Formats: sequence, C-alpha cells, structure tokens
Amino acid sequence: MTTVRQILEEKGHQVWTIGPDETVYKALMILAEKDIGALVVVENDQVVGIVSERDYARKVVLKGKTSLDTPVKDIMTPQVYFINPDCTAEECMALMTEKRVRHLPVMENNKLVGVISIGDVVKSIISSQKITIEHLQNYIMGKYQ
Ligand SMILES: NC(=O)c1ccc[n+]([C@@H]2O[C@H](COP(=O)([O-])OP(=O)(O)OC[C@H]3O[C@@H](n4cnc5c(N)ncnc54)[C@H](O)[C@@H]3O)[C@@H](O)[C@H]2O)c1
Repeated sequence: MTTVRQILEEKGHQVWTIGPDETVYKALMILAEKDIGALVVVENDQVVGIVSERDYARKVVLKGKTSLDTPVKDIMTPQVYFINPDCTAEECMALMTEKRVRHLPVMENNKLVGVISIGDVVKSIISSQKITIEHLQNYIMGKYQ
C-alpha cells in the first residue's frame, strides 16, 4: 500500500502557508499563483487552520464581506485534521471522506512536512489499482505459467 511518505517523495515537501491576519485577497493571490486550492494557516510556527477555495466561496460575498477587508482568520476552518507520513493513501481517503475535507497537512515530530490533497490520493490509488489489474490480466492470460 502506498504511504503518504511515498506520495510526498514524488510530489515534494513544499507547504504553502499564510498568516491568520493576512487578507483573504492575499490568500487568493497565492492560491492563483501556485495553482492550488488551499493554504495552511500558520501563526508562531503553529498550524491554526486551513483556508480553502470553498471557505472563500461560502464565507465572503455571501456574508456581505470583501476579500480586501477580511482577514484570513475570519473565514478559515480552524479544525485541522493531520496525518503522519506512515498513513496509507486508503487511510487518507477514508479521513477525507468522513470529515469532508480535501487537504490534509502532514506532521512528523511536530513539524509540518507536507500537504496531501484529494487529487494526490486519487492519483495514488488509481495507479496502485492499475498495477493490480495488470498483474491480474497477466495471471488470467497465463503469462505467469
Ligand atoms: N496529476 C497530478 O499529479 C495531480 C495531483 C493532484 C491534483 N491534480 C489535479 O489538480 C486538480 C485539483 O486538485 P485537488 O482538488 O487535489 O487540490 P489542489 O488544487 O489544492 O492540489 C493540487 C496540488 O497542489 C498541492 N497543494 C495544494 N495545496 C497545497 C499547499 N498549501 N501547499 C503545498 N502543496 C499544496 C496538492 O498536494 C496537489 O498536489 C484536480 O483536477 C486534480 O486532478 C493532479
């Protein structure tokens, strides 16, 4: 089974973050520039939340706010679900499905060492399943005899 450690080795350990007092506008600029869907909110080296495209879509215009006048802390999701590098892709998918989140920060020895998104997990699970299917096809067609 593929682990988070293996996924991070392929995709990298970079984590894009923002401070809670920065504006939502700045968060949107980083999301667009990096082509990602969420930022980990960090204050004094501690993770205090996650701010996602979904938070922006639901909690700014619809609440009569503007991105330039609203700090990230007003729209971020403070409840963060962490994983560690030994978690499997299947465990990540189960957590994402149960908690309805699309990004999981990865912690090791109290340090933020990566972020895994739902796309990373789906890609990993599909490629593992593809390998299994190829093995089964070879087995059925007698290539292992
Ligand atoms: N081909 C690939 O390798 C791959 C991997 C992941 C996602 N995608 C595609 O990207 C689109 C959106 O993906 P998504 O919904 O998973 O979310 P997303 O757009 O937030 O994630 C895209 C990539 O950026 C990374 N990322 C996101 N936020 C990050 C952060 N704060 N710090 C560091 N890295 C961060 C994710 O881990 C992922 O690899 C989908 O269409 C998906 O299929 C492709």
